[in-house]
Amino acid sequence: MVNERRPDDMVRITTPELADAYIAERIEALKKQIGDRKVLLALSGGVDSSVVAAMLIKAVGDQLVCVHVNHGLLRKGEPEQVIEVFRNQMKANLIYVDATDRFLDKLAGVTDPEKKRMIIGGEFIEVFAEEAKKLSGIEFLAQGTIWPDILESEAGIKAHHNAGGLPEDLRFELVEPVRILFKDEVRVVGERLGLPANMVYRQPFPGPGLGVRCPGAITRDRLEAVRESDAILREEFAKNGLEGKVWQYFTVVPDFKSTGVRDGKRTFDWPCIIRAINTTDVMEVTVEHLSDELIDHLVKRIITEVPGINRVLFDYTPKPPATVEYE
Ligand code: XMP
Repeated sequence: MVNERRPDDMVRITTPELADAYIAERIEALKKQIGDRKVLLALSGGVDSSVVAAMLIKAVGDQLVCVHVNHGLLRKGEPEQVIEVFRNQMKANLIYVDATDRFLDKLAGVTDPEKKRMIIGGEFIEVFAEEAKKLSGIEFLAQGTIWPDILESEAGIKAHHNAGGLPEDLRFELVEPVRILFKDEVRVVGERLGLPANMVYRQPFPGPGLGVRCPGAITRDRLEAVRESDAILREEFAKNGLEGKVWQYFTVVPDFKSTGVRDGKRTFDWPCIIRAINTTDVMEVTVEHLSDELIDHLVKRIITEVPGINRVLFDYTPKPPATVEYE
């Protein structure tokens, strides 16, 4: 249904039963809309596109073609999880494109945050369009648009960028099976579709990925330090019962070095900043206060396990005045 709107009296999907009913109804509608034709989906591995993929696999099987573009700025293990869950477990028709070098070469030396975002967004569309052009007989484009996207674009808060940017010859009919759902409803539906909990309940992750957590010009070695320290932080939050409880947590490795000492020798390495925040609307944000024990443990692991890091700093600044991300 094009331009579908959430009915005013729609019951919030909070239970498995309500989710199952929604899924059954959508699958019928998708089968009717798509018939025996083909659908294309950019599958990032985020909650919304993953739920759309799982739903379409149930509805039209291998008439769905998923394209996962790895821009080199994903978190540790993410592309592997997309391949494992969708190609190996759900038997999806998945095209995996490792475009890391393309993105990082384009980003080399670029320091301006907005320019970095534009390059990442623009390159993403180009890679996706290239893959789409190699395919034949595609008539639909599936998107993980959700109801807040529609409300925010109508209110002029955020340009709803999901649809935008594809070249003229690649404008397909849209399929938006979670368009009328709020995020919490998408998660319940995702669980009932069999997606792993760590995929469905994962923290928000910006489109430009680790690129905005490697401030200034991105270099491969500093990006790896961000990725490795982020993986340690996520592992420790999961072990300490903070996963799913804290809104967002991540590491940043800024582009400056300070002196240190290791094995009796002077070092000149980066600091790693840890940020963990709570919020309901992301307009105002408070800081999650970590226990001394966890702080000590995180410091120890990061300085011993992550090459290039000789200090760990904690950012305890609320928003405002500090934004969540560093750029
Ligand atoms: P800020 O830094 O503006 O972040 O306080 C608020 C929320 O938005 C996320 N964020 C982004 N998400 N593309 C995205 O998809 C972006 O360019 C972007 N910048 C920030 C951020 O992670 C936080 O959840």
